[in-house]
Amino acid sequence: MAKKVTLSLIKADVGSVAGHTAPHPRMLSAAKSVVLDSVKKGIIEDFMLARCGDDISILMSHDKGENNEKVHKIAWDAFMAAAEEAKKMHLYGAGQDLLAEAFSGNIRGLGPGAAEMTFEERKSEPVVALLADKTEPSAFNLPLARIFADPFTTTGLVIDKRMHDGFFFEVVDVKEHKKIKISTPEGLYDLLAFIGDITRYAIKRVISKDNSIGIAAVVSTEKLSLIAGKYVGKDDPVALVRTQSGLPAVGEVLQPFGFPALVSGWMRGSHWGPWYPATQDDSNPTFFDGPPRIVALGFHITDGKIQGIEEESRPGEHLPIDYFKDSAWDYVRRQAMEHAIYIRRHGPFMPSILPPEELEYTTLPEIRKKLEKAWEPAD
Ligand code: F6R
Ligand code: MG
Ligand code: MG
Repeated sequence: MAKKVTLSLIKADVGSVAGHTAPHPRMLSAAKSVVLDSVKKGIIEDFMLARCGDDISILMSHDKGENNEKVHKIAWDAFMAAAEEAKKMHLYGAGQDLLAEAFSGNIRGLGPGAAEMTFEERKSEPVVALLADKTEPSAFNLPLARIFADPFTTTGLVIDKRMHDGFFFEVVDVKEHKKIKISTPEGLYDLLAFIGDITRYAIKRVISKDNSIGIAAVVSTEKLSLIAGKYVGKDDPVALVRTQSGLPAVGEVLQPFGFPALVSGWMRGSHWGPWYPATQDDSNPTFFDGPPRIVALGFHITDGKIQGIEEESRPGEHLPIDYFKDSAWDYVRRQAMEHAIYIRRHGPFMPSILPPEELEYTTLPEIRKKLEKAWEPAD
């Protein structure tokens, strides 16, 4: 029997150096020692720590299923440890995404974002983790629709018989906490009618119609601002995508990021900006706190463990493939910067800034109040 494995990718922004830029290495070490300890105790099988901009992501492989209290607590404790370090150094936004005083059984609703999937490990199990900074969960709507429903992106939909029937998309309505499952290709236009509205609908899961495969992709769809009822930072999302052998090839998963599509949530969570594909090391948001970064990391799940590559300079460490390191992406980065500079020329005017109801915070009600009496009937 194939081994059943759960991947839990849990992320949070718990502080960063010099603005919302990058976590301090001491924060990462503090988080790492908590997670390492849980491997030693046998709670989880393996882990990988990664970052995109100011967000720390913890990927854990284990056999405890999704929403497991023990597994979520590891992530919570790791983020708390990292936040403690950030507080000691008076770093910016220390502890920002940890909205509760204490852990209470499940990390969802407490601030961090979680993308979890459970599947039977195939003979070879290549997975891509997508980590984003300065944007929000529905930013993944467009690339996931391209990857799993667009034959002009994924030729596998046309010529691989395990994909030819299409995929199911699970979409959440983040405002009303409802979800719907739509079958593609037949429901494609219905799907697009929802997910084109990125203010409200976000793809949560994509599921193969081939029962032997199961879950194909999952996104963290927590909305921090809705959880907290006020602005506390953005819900920079993460996603996991299984690939190959009846699923989109790695190249089909990455191709949509060749288009620096505009996503929302840049600077103060209140601007549109183009995706900028980056390596982990190049994910510091340096231009107007951005542009919104996307990092893609590749690895295998091998007998429940996370298998990466071993670099000569870091023996004993399994590192993921950092896909956007390749120079092929330089051209896209260039284009992204052209779009970034273009849209920034609009300053505080739409469409550079989000519509009033989507701004993470605004002074407009106070300004309205202050100038209430200055208005006169228009001619
Ligand atoms: C945070 C972010 C930043 C901040 C901005 C203002 O993830 O994306 O763009 O929103 O730097 O930060 P505050 O309001 O903390 O001064
Ligand atoms: Mg931040
Ligand atoms: Mg961030």
